[in-house]
Amino acid sequence: MERYGTYGKLNSNEFPGDFLLGTATASYQIEGAWNLSGKGENIWDRYTHTHPELILDRSTGDVACDSYHKYEEDVALMKKMGVQFYRFSLSWSRILPTGFAYQINPDGIRYYNDLINLLLKNDIIPLVTLFHWDTPQPLEDLGGFTNALMVEWFEDYARVVFENFGDRVKLWLTFNEPKQTCHEGVGGDNKAPGYESSGIGDYLCAHNLIKAHARAYHLYDKEFRPKQNGSISITIDTSWMEPGTNSTADKEAAERKIAFNFGWYADPIFHPNGDYPEVMRKLVPERSKKEGFRRSRLPEFTKEEVKYIRGTFDFLGLNHYTTLLVKDIPEIPISGKPSVDKDSRTESWHDPSWPPSSAGWLKVVPWGFTKLLVWLKHRYGDVPIYVTENGFSDLGEIDDQGRVNYYKLYLSAMLDAMYEHKVNVKAYAAWSLVDNFEWRDGYVNRFGLHHVDMNDPGRKRTPKASAEYYRKVIAARKIHGID
Ligand code: NOJ
Repeated sequence: MERYGTYGKLNSNEFPGDFLLGTATASYQIEGAWNLSGKGENIWDRYTHTHPELILDRSTGDVACDSYHKYEEDVALMKKMGVQFYRFSLSWSRILPTGFAYQINPDGIRYYNDLINLLLKNDIIPLVTLFHWDTPQPLEDLGGFTNALMVEWFEDYARVVFENFGDRVKLWLTFNEPKQTCHEGVGGDNKAPGYESSGIGDYLCAHNLIKAHARAYHLYDKEFRPKQNGSISITIDTSWMEPGTNSTADKEAAERKIAFNFGWYADPIFHPNGDYPEVMRKLVPERSKKEGFRRSRLPEFTKEEVKYIRGTFDFLGLNHYTTLLVKDIPEIPISGKPSVDKDSRTESWHDPSWPPSSAGWLKVVPWGFTKLLVWLKHRYGDVPIYVTENGFSDLGEIDDQGRVNYYKLYLSAMLDAMYEHKVNVKAYAAWSLVDNFEWRDGYVNRFGLHHVDMNDPGRKRTPKASAEYYRKVIAARKIHGID
C-alpha cells in the first residue's frame, strides 16, 4: 500500500466483477446545435443569450463541444478508455421543441437513436438522464417547475422517451441534481432561470419536481418495465457536511445542513418514512410564522402523496465533489427576505488547508466521500448507490496531474466505503468525458478527461493524462499505481 500525503493509504482492492466504471456528460454542456434540426429554445439558451454578463467568459452552449455532430468521435474516445457505461442527458427541447408532447421532432429522435445504437455497438451501456437543467423555454414561460402542471408535462415527455428509446436503454435517471434547478435556479440566480425566490419558490419547485419524478417512475414501473425491464431513479448531489467543531451544536448543525441540502429531495423518495426531513417540517413552519406568513413556506405532501413518492427508486444516484465545514447559527434575526439558508440556521465554509481546484467551491477532501457514503447507508439502508458524477476542475491542462491525483484519492475513498464499511456502491462515472460548458463558469473551469479546443471550429479533442490514467484503472479494475 502506498502512503498518500495526509490522506492515509490508497485502497488496493479490486472493483467487484459487476461494478461499472463509466463517464458522464449533459446535453446543454456538450451538444451545441442549439437551434438546428428543429430543436426548440430552452432556459439555458435564453439565459446565456440575454445575460452574457452572468457567464464568466460570456460564452454560451450554442456550439459547445459540437457533440451533436461529433458524437461518433466521443464514442471512439470512450471506447479507447474502455468505459463500461456512458451517462448522458436528453435535451427535452430537441425531442419536444415546444416542451409539449403534441409535436415530436423526428431529428431529435434520430440523433439519440444514432448515439444509443453506436454505444451499444461498442459495448457501452447507455445511462440516460431525462432532465439535466434545460427546461424548454415555453414551459418556463408558464412557470417551469413552480407550475404544478409540470408534473404532467414531464410525464408526457417521459412517455415519449420510454416509447422511443426504452427497448435499448435499461438505465434511467429522471432528474439530475434537482437542487440546482430549484435552489439555485428558482431560489437564487446562480443557474437559469434565476428567479431569486429562496424560501418560497425553491420549496415550491422542489415539491413539483419530486412529484414529477415519482410520476415518471410509476409510469415506467407500470407501463414500460414489464416489457423493457430496466431500472430508474434520480440523481441528487451533496457535499459531505462536516461539523466545524466537536460541539453538539455544530454536530447537529451539520446534520441539519445535509437534511436541508440533500434530505430535502432524497428523504421523500429514499427514506423509509418518506416526506421531507423532520427538521425541515419543524423549522420552516416555525420561522414562516415568526416572519408573518399565514402558512408554512414549505408545502406539505398529503398522506397519499407521501406513499406515492416513497420508494420510487431502483438505486440511488449520487453526484459528489467536495466537503464543507458547518457551524450552528442559533438565532437568525427575523428581517429581510426569507431563505432556505436562514431556515436551516447554519453557516458553511472550507478549511483553508484543503487543496484547491480551479473552482472556488471544489476542494479536494477525499475522506468526506467515504463519510458521505457511510452516512447514506445509515440513513437510507442498503440501497445500491450509483455515483453518477465525481471530478475535478482545472484551467485546461493536458498534463492534468491535479485531476489524476483527485481520481486516485476519491476512487480510493470510495473503495474504503465499499470494503471497510460495506456500502453497496455499484457504479462510478467520472465527470466528464470532455471539457464542456460549465454553466456560469463558461469554458474557464474545465472537468474533462479530454481537452476540447473551443477556438477550433472542429472542436479538436485531445486526451489528457487523466484519460490515460482512467484507462489503466478500468483495465486493471483497481487504482492504478499501487500494488
Ligand atoms: C454537477 C452537474 O450535474 C454538472 O452539470 C456540472 O458540470 C458538474 N457538477 C461540475 O460542476
